[in-house]
Amino acid sequence: MKVLVTGGAGFIGSCFIRMLLAENSSARVLNLDKLTYAGNLENLADVASDARYTFVRGDICDRALVDSLLADWSPEIVVNFAAESHVDRSILTPDPVFQTNLAGTFTLLEASRRRGVKRFVQVSTDEVYGSLSEPLQATEEFPLRPSSPYSASKAGADLLALSYFATYRTPVIVTRASNNYGPYQFPEKLIPLMITNALEDRPLPIYGDGLQVRDWLFVEDHCRALFRVVECGREGEVYNVGGGCPLTNREVVQRILAALGKPQHLMVNVSDRPGHDRRYALCCEKLHRQTGWRPKIGFEEGLRRTIAWYQQHPEWVRRVRSGEYLEYYARNYERRDQELARLRQ
Ligand code: NAD
Ligand code: DAU
Repeated sequence: MKVLVTGGAGFIGSCFIRMLLAENSSARVLNLDKLTYAGNLENLADVASDARYTFVRGDICDRALVDSLLADWSPEIVVNFAAESHVDRSILTPDPVFQTNLAGTFTLLEASRRRGVKRFVQVSTDEVYGSLSEPLQATEEFPLRPSSPYSASKAGADLLALSYFATYRTPVIVTRASNNYGPYQFPEKLIPLMITNALEDRPLPIYGDGLQVRDWLFVEDHCRALFRVVECGREGEVYNVGGGCPLTNREVVQRILAALGKPQHLMVNVSDRPGHDRRYALCCEKLHRQTGWRPKIGFEEGLRRTIAWYQQHPEWVRRVRSGEYLEYYARNYERRDQELARLRQ
């Protein structure tokens, strides 16, 4: 089985590659990654010398490169993780979001159509459904109501991918997952940011009242769901992938502080994220019924494993929090109110 993974040096893509190579002896993987600030080859150190694994540094928007990789390497399966994945960055700097998430997906779909790929998995997000009030849960048929440049670009890419199935019968499947967490996540997202700040007794910035709800999914469970979808998902279909673990942001951060034995007063309220979605919630009946997948790792265990990983990898943390990260951190947190005011002018 030859799999082209895009964005495989990021958080979820690297987990997918590590697990695939560990669990499937017939798998061969080509990882196409641009190595943006979020791409890190250290995440793939465990497989770097595996003969079944190849890395190519490149952009999914590069038509000539993508076409030649598909022609020369002939993957049966394409799994597209490559994206600008952070909502806050998409608000501060939307341009690369639309380039990669929309134009990049288009480039991959076009090449996959021409080269007769057998399966194309578009890794998407529950954010495309927008904010849902209690007790709603989005099924795959729910309307798309994205609120950020990030989620709008992902919704557009979902529709584009599904149009390739409708029009050309390109064998596309779209998955929409809830909030992932686990080892190797870049410390711009809620859980790794709060763990790494708390470890150094730095303030933990809570947007608005902190009562927004997210459904937490351990990254290995997400990857297991993707394996099931590759094996037995139906072409032209969408599958929701949720952790079944809804928590407010405040609860998540309180648990992190308690697990680390740190004081709750490290939490500080800061100005809210513009367009902040209040609640995400997924109905995953379809995935359960058609593939038998269920999440295996509950939040308590997943958080324990995640915190232990960050405690055991201070050098990884130190390296990713240098350079570009410091500039981003200053814009999004230290100069937060000025930056948000500037965006509204
Ligand atoms: P990430 O930011 O950790 O990694 C993204 C990877 O894509 C990086 O390695 C980066 O270098 C690469 N990349 C970016 N632009 C590229 C380009 N133009 N060409 C090639 N490579 C490029 O992201 P993640 O959290 O691992 O998310 C992976 C995918 O899963 C994304 O598509 C995201 O929308 C989706 N998703 C994420 C979550 C989550 O909670 N993190 C939940 C649901 C869906
Ligand atoms: O729901 C799936 C999505 O989850 C993915 O598609 C995205 O790629 C991923 O980034 C994530 O998006 P969120 O915006 O939900 O994740 P984030 O970790 O940025 O924020 C989670 C919640 O925590 C959200 O309500 C905003 C809040 N938050 C976040 C940060 C970084 C804070 O209160 N303070 C913070 O500093």
